[in-house]
Amino acid sequence: MATAVVQPDSSVTGFVSKTGKLLINGKWVDAASGKTFATYNPATGEVLANVAAGDKEDIDRAVKAARAAFETGPWSKISPSERGRLLWKLADLLEGHTEEFAQLESLDNGKPLKVARAADVPLAVDHFRYYAGWATKIEGNTISLGLAKQGKFHAYTVREPVGVAGQIIPWNFPLLMAAWKLAPALSVGCTVILKPAEQTPLTALRLGELIMEAGFPEGVVNIVPGFGETAGAALAAHPDVDKIAFTGSTEVGKLIIHAAAGNLKKVSLELGGKSPNIILDDADIDAAIPGAASAIFFNQGQTCCAGSRLFIDKKIFDKVVDGVAQNASKIRIGQGFDPDVDMGPLVSEEQFNKVCGYLESGKQEGAKAVTGGARAGNRGYFVQPTVLINTTDTMKVVQEEIFGPVLTAIPFSDINEIAAKANNTEYGLAAGIWTRDIKKAHALASKLRAGTVWINCYNVFDASLPFGGYKQSGWGREMGHEVLKNYTEVKSVCAAL
Ligand code: NAI
Ligand code: MG
Repeated sequence: MATAVVQPDSSVTGFVSKTGKLLINGKWVDAASGKTFATYNPATGEVLANVAAGDKEDIDRAVKAARAAFETGPWSKISPSERGRLLWKLADLLEGHTEEFAQLESLDNGKPLKVARAADVPLAVDHFRYYAGWATKIEGNTISLGLAKQGKFHAYTVREPVGVAGQIIPWNFPLLMAAWKLAPALSVGCTVILKPAEQTPLTALRLGELIMEAGFPEGVVNIVPGFGETAGAALAAHPDVDKIAFTGSTEVGKLIIHAAAGNLKKVSLELGGKSPNIILDDADIDAAIPGAASAIFFNQGQTCCAGSRLFIDKKIFDKVVDGVAQNASKIRIGQGFDPDVDMGPLVSEEQFNKVCGYLESGKQEGAKAVTGGARAGNRGYFVQPTVLINTTDTMKVVQEEIFGPVLTAIPFSDINEIAAKANNTEYGLAAGIWTRDIKKAHALASKLRAGTVWINCYNVFDASLPFGGYKQSGWGREMGHEVLKNYTEVKSVCAAL
C-alpha cells in the first residue's frame, strides 16, 4: 500500500512565504540594493521562496558588525564556558526543531525528507554539541628552551581566535555545512560572516533565527545569502576579514586563494573529489555491494567524498557489478516528501545539465551503462542511478567529478598496482577498502593519498573525526580538534626572568 506524501508543517509554509532577509548585526535586514533572488524546489523547478540578495555593500556592513563584535562587544569578553553554553543551547533548539529543518532542507535541496531527518539535522546538532565541549579546552603549551636557558626565560604558547571569519558553503548539505563551519569558529571565539549557497539559503536563515534566540550577541554571527560572484567574491576579497573557509568546487577554491591574497587572510578549503572505492577478492561481498552502492548514490551522488570510482578485483567483477546495478535499479526516485522515495532530484537545473552532459560524454567515449544512463521522468531534475563499465583511465567520466549518481566500475588484477590507479586523479579526498584481510587493509590504506580512508564501510562521519583533502581536494581539515587550528593563531610568549 502506498504511503501518503507528507505535507509541510505550517511553520515551514509560513517561513517560505516570507521574503528571507540578511542577518547583520543581530537584525534582519533587506539587501542594500533591495534585490532578491528565488530559490527553487528542485522536484518541480518551481519557485520555493525569495531571499534578499546580498552583495558587496551588505558584506561590508556584516564585516563591520563582526569586527566590532570581535574587538569590543560582549563576545570579546565572554568566558569559554559561556560560549560552550550558547553552542549547547543552539544544539538543543535545533534538535527541538528537527522536523521543521528536515522539511525545509528537503524542499530546498531535494533530498528525501527521511534522509534529512536521520542524517542532516542530527549530525548538525551533534556538531554544535561537540564544539560546545571544545570551547573550554583550548590550551597552549609551556615550552622548554633547553637547559642553558632554563631559569633565564619563561616561554609559553597561547591559542587565540583568528578574528573575523568569512565562511562560504555549498548546497549539498546546506544545514550541516553551516554547522561544520560555524561551530568550531564560535567555539574558539571568532565572529563570522556566513554565505550560504544561492541554491539553498533557507536552513541557514532559519538557523540564524535560532542563533539569535539562543542568545549569541549581535554581530557574532552574520548571515548574508547571495551569489558566489557577488557576495561570495566580496567576502573572500574583503581586507578586514582574517580568515576564509570555503567548501565547494576546486575551480572556485582556486579563485578564493587569489581573492584572499590581498590581505593574506588564512584560507581553508574543502573541495572536490573522485574517490576510489576498492573491493578486494576476499571481501564480504554481501556487505561490499550495498556499501559500494550507497557510497556513490547517497545524497543523489552530490557528495564531495562520493565513492565514484569503484575498483573491483576482476575475479569478482561481474558479480559485484551485477549486485551494485541491482541495488541501483531498486532505488525509488521521486520527490523528497514521499516516504517511499530513496533518491530525490539533483539540486538545480545547472547540476542536472552537468550530470546529463557526463552521461552523454561517457556514452560517446565508449563507456557502457549497465543500469541507468539517463534522466528519470520528464519533470524536475531527476537522474537515474547509473553504473558505467568499459571505461578507460583517461575518460572524462573517470577523471572528473560528476557530482551525481554516476558510478564507474573498473576491474583490476594486481593488488600491487591498485594504489597507483586509485591515486591517479588530481583529487585526494576519501577512499574505501573492502577486504577481510586486516593486513592488506592497512597496507593499502597507507598507500592511498586521501584525507579519509574507510575500511569495510563508507561515508561514516563523526564530529570528532577530521575530514579534508590531499592534493586538489583542499587545504586543512574540518572536524575533530584539527579544525580548531583553522580558527586560531598561536602566540609564543617569551619572557626574560
Ligand atoms: P561552487 O564552488 O560555485 O559553489 C560553492 C559556493 O561557492 C557557493 O556558496 C557559491 O555561491 C560560492 N561561490 C561561487 N563562486 C564564487 C566566487 N567567485 N567567490 C566566492 N564564492 C563563490 O559550486 P557549484 O557551481 O554550485 O557546483 C559546481 C561543482 O562544484 C559541482 O558540480 C561539484 O562538482 C562541485 N561542488 C563540490 C562541493 C563539495 O562539497 N566539495 C559542493 C558543491 C559543489
Ligand atoms: Mg559555481
